[in-house]
Amino acid sequence: MLATLYRIARPLLFRLDPETAHDLVIALTASTPGLLLRLLGAGRPTGPAVRLAGLALPSPVGLAAGLDKDARAVSAWQHLGFGFVEVGTVTPRPQPGNPRPRVHRLPGSQALVNSMGFPSDGADVVAGRLERLRSRDLWPLTPVGVNLGKNKDTPAETAHVDYRTLARRFRDLADFLVVNVSSPNTPGLRELQAPEALARIAGTTVEEAADRPVFVKLSPDLADEALAQAVETALGVGVAGFVATNTTRTRPVPSDRAGGLSGVPLHPLARARIQVVLDAVGGRAPVVGVGGIDRAERAQDLLDRGCAAVQVYTGLIYRGPGLAARIARGLSLPAAS
Ligand code: FNR
Repeated sequence: MLATLYRIARPLLFRLDPETAHDLVIALTASTPGLLLRLLGAGRPTGPAVRLAGLALPSPVGLAAGLDKDARAVSAWQHLGFGFVEVGTVTPRPQPGNPRPRVHRLPGSQALVNSMGFPSDGADVVAGRLERLRSRDLWPLTPVGVNLGKNKDTPAETAHVDYRTLARRFRDLADFLVVNVSSPNTPGLRELQAPEALARIAGTTVEEAADRPVFVKLSPDLADEALAQAVETALGVGVAGFVATNTTRTRPVPSDRAGGLSGVPLHPLARARIQVVLDAVGGRAPVVGVGGIDRAERAQDLLDRGCAAVQVYTGLIYRGPGLAARIARGLSLPAAS
């Protein structure tokens, strides 16, 4: 039912500017009762259940960061079959991000190029939304993580202060935290994956996060050695796991749009980088695989390689809101112990 509806809705949505379509879909998703979302055909996650850094996920298919940046539809995603959700990137202070248009579709290749630059309502507003869900007992049955990023005008030298502020604000609200030092649209951000800066930022976040697991999200554009070094550095300061990968600045398909590319053409690169991360981690921590997953086979392949879970974003735009449930139904995993 959802797939049929999306076949009708997609051409209409694709006539709108991508960000306008996105805002409309988030508003609709947030205001549609959960029961209706489930009746429309996606349904709550039905497994296979897995564990991720101590968290129980009803399904290993999660929502990647950037889609529900400001935590507007947090309790809806479970009804679309997601097993966990990552909201954000959230910055300490509100900021507008880059000027629009900053999201472009490449429909022929099922890709997006975005140069959002962390538009964010800011930590207080997002935390307020999460607090209301907690206090009204509306927290979803699926774990919710918050992806943390620095403000654009925070210099690299004091970036760790931003992450400390964010970890303090979200540690009692989120089920897990993700340190984002890999988005390509905040000048200088990805340099924070270098050992000294990463140790300081991830270490500060782990310290402040108390017992909440902290993940580090990595760029697919790091060379093998730099990726392995980032993994070692992060594990050394107590990080619980990794999310790989973010969008790429490379252009596996032609596009002169500036920003990070996601979707189907990212998949071969993401898959190769995920393997480097898995090898570097060597089973010491969980890895969440993300990048161009648009069908069960791709998710299954990453899980078979050793990822603990996967996430999707761009696939939803092209394949529709039933994607997470469809992927989950197509997976076979040993039952969680
Ligand atoms: C993203 N992504 C992202 N990641 C992140 O850590 N913080 C963010 O704010 C955003 N914002 C964002 C906006 C848009 C428009 C897109 C398309 C993507 C990256 C996302 O979480 C994911 O890592 C990549 O998009 C790769 O996965 P897909 O989209 O190929 O499934």
